[in-house]
Amino acid sequence: MLVQIPDVLTQEEVSHFRKELDSTNWVDGRVTAGYQSARVKENMQLPETSPVAIALGRRIIQALEQNPLFISAALPAKIFPPLFNRYDGGHSFGNHVDNSIRRIPATGESIRTDLSVTLFLSSPEEYDGGELIIEDTYGGHSVKLPAGHMVLYPSTSLHRVLPVTRGSRVSSFFWLQSMVRHDAHRSLLLNLDVAVQKIGRDLEGHSSIVELTAIYHNLLREWAEV
Ligand code: NI
Repeated sequence: MLVQIPDVLTQEEVSHFRKELDSTNWVDGRVTAGYQSARVKENMQLPETSPVAIALGRRIIQALEQNPLFISAALPAKIFPPLFNRYDGGHSFGNHVDNSIRRIPATGESIRTDLSVTLFLSSPEEYDGGELIIEDTYGGHSVKLPAGHMVLYPSTSLHRVLPVTRGSRVSSFFWLQSMVRHDAHRSLLLNLDVAVQKIGRDLEGHSSIVELTAIYHNLLREWAEV
């Protein structure tokens, strides 16, 4: 399931991020690519040890910890420290799948990548091309979101970034291990959570709300690994 999370960062925060990112050093994006993806990857990245990347990454995590839709959709167990990339001058990233296990350099801890995340930091008017294409059983989905918005998608999906033919596409990308491993289970839990919250608003105090909430938690208890 693809989930769009709007307004993870405010426009002021996006401007601050862009200023910081413009004034630091970028390296070849193949530094974090696996063997197969290195052959199709052409972009720039901040080194994982970059103080700018570490500081901005922390700010993203803080914003996500306060975002109910993110928590409900991702049910995060471990989050990889956010990385940053930039595509310009024809850069693209061909079809690939993200590595299944990632080691967090600072802690040595490994995470299973259940969900991949792209947080857009350029507005769609700033560049042409650069769509993120995510494939699932319904075909390819094209994603190009306003700055400050984010997409969550299963790391099992093949995906690619189309060539940027004008301007620069700056984004943050990272992975997370969810408490709920299977995408189908996470989708059910998210749909149930959204429906229960809607009943809570529309039929405040209805006696079924507590029963549905119990079903939500009992399903989560069945499926979660903590
Ligand atoms: Ni990828």
